[in-house]
Amino acid sequence: MTEGEVPPAGGGAPEADPTVGLGFETRAIHAGQAPDPSTGAIVTPIYQTSTFAQPEVGSLQAYEYSRSGNPTRTALEACLADLEGTTHGAAFASGLAAEDAVFRCLEPGDHVIVGNELYGGTYRLLDRVHSLTGLEFTPVALDDPERIQAAWRPTTRMVWLETPSNPQLRVTDIASVAAMAHGRDALVVVDNTFATPYLQRPVDHGADVVVHSTTKYLGGHSDVVGGFVATSNEALADRIAFLQNATGAVPGPFDCYLVLRGIKTLAVRMDRHCENAAAVADALAGHPAVERIYFPGLPGHPGHDTATTQMRAFGGMVSFTVRGGEAAAIAVANSTRLFTLAESLGAVESLVDHPYRMTHASLVNSPLAVDPALLRLSVGLELGTDLIDDLCQALEAVPA
Ligand SMILES: Cc1ncc(COP(=O)(O)O)c(C=O)c1O
Repeated sequence: MTEGEVPPAGGGAPEADPTVGLGFETRAIHAGQAPDPSTGAIVTPIYQTSTFAQPEVGSLQAYEYSRSGNPTRTALEACLADLEGTTHGAAFASGLAAEDAVFRCLEPGDHVIVGNELYGGTYRLLDRVHSLTGLEFTPVALDDPERIQAAWRPTTRMVWLETPSNPQLRVTDIASVAAMAHGRDALVVVDNTFATPYLQRPVDHGADVVVHSTTKYLGGHSDVVGGFVATSNEALADRIAFLQNATGAVPGPFDCYLVLRGIKTLAVRMDRHCENAAAVADALAGHPAVERIYFPGLPGHPGHDTATTQMRAFGGMVSFTVRGGEAAAIAVANSTRLFTLAESLGAVESLVDHPYRMTHASLVNSPLAVDPALLRLSVGLELGTDLIDDLCQALEAVPA
């Protein structure tokens, strides 16, 4: 195979994997990560090489060129595909690169139904990149089957959803959307970035493809940008692997190592993220400066019942609107001391984001624009009471 050819679909779990049937925490540490055969190293080495020696012209070997395949990347692909319950996984240089590969599987003229709450970059990718080559899309409230039905076209090939969504943490019933889509021969893609496979496995509810920004909880330490596509659909997996090599948006070996290392502690981190977020949501729910709170763990959240059935726990993200509108929200975001004002989410340190001006700025003037009074919290692993104290002092910036 030459470096220009299509490698085999990335990431199937190795045969006779000793972790088959074991628990999530065990597989997160061991799946795809047997001790290195050449040295016995228990941590998958960072194979920091662009190319691999070939014994003779035309010989078939597992690795030839690191865009096509690299052993550190293979370990990540095997591990995360295993955790998502899929047979194939492909790692990308960013979440958006992973999304781009999925949209490239469609044809000009195909139509995508997307949730009406979406990461701003996903909307931008559809609106300003794929629309230009003929892909059509319609944002729809996915909790309403009649609206999905009304938006459906003969050319609809895909339903794309985030659950919980970014930034208002709307919850979509994956199984009911999958039942509708499969009855019409369309694929269901779930962006599982906010939940991670520890809290939710979309394929168990009928999804065909799972995408991730591994930059977030999977990496978990704000030190790497990455993306992932997981699927058990063979034809799609082949196409994604082809695109991974042909378009070349691959993560380097060191980035793969960082994500692999993050995944090893995912379960314990998520438990604490969920615990801290629930405590923060409870504290904010009773605060006079808070107008509305969005957290699927609260019984009043419209997606609470669905979240209870399809998630293990409610996640580490909490969003809320501040009384006093945008100016008050910005004053709060500028006044936190522990919550750092920054884009991104899902790492050990707590972050605050003003979606309207930051992560979702590309939605301003679109039908998906977010409330300027909204703040989004990525609740980290600091002591929960310290985080609540910080938010309470910051909320004092809101005029009474
Ligand atoms: C839900 C979601 N999906 C995808 C992405 C894009 O990921 P990346 O920034 O790794 O390209 C993000 C980024 O914030 C996100 O929040």
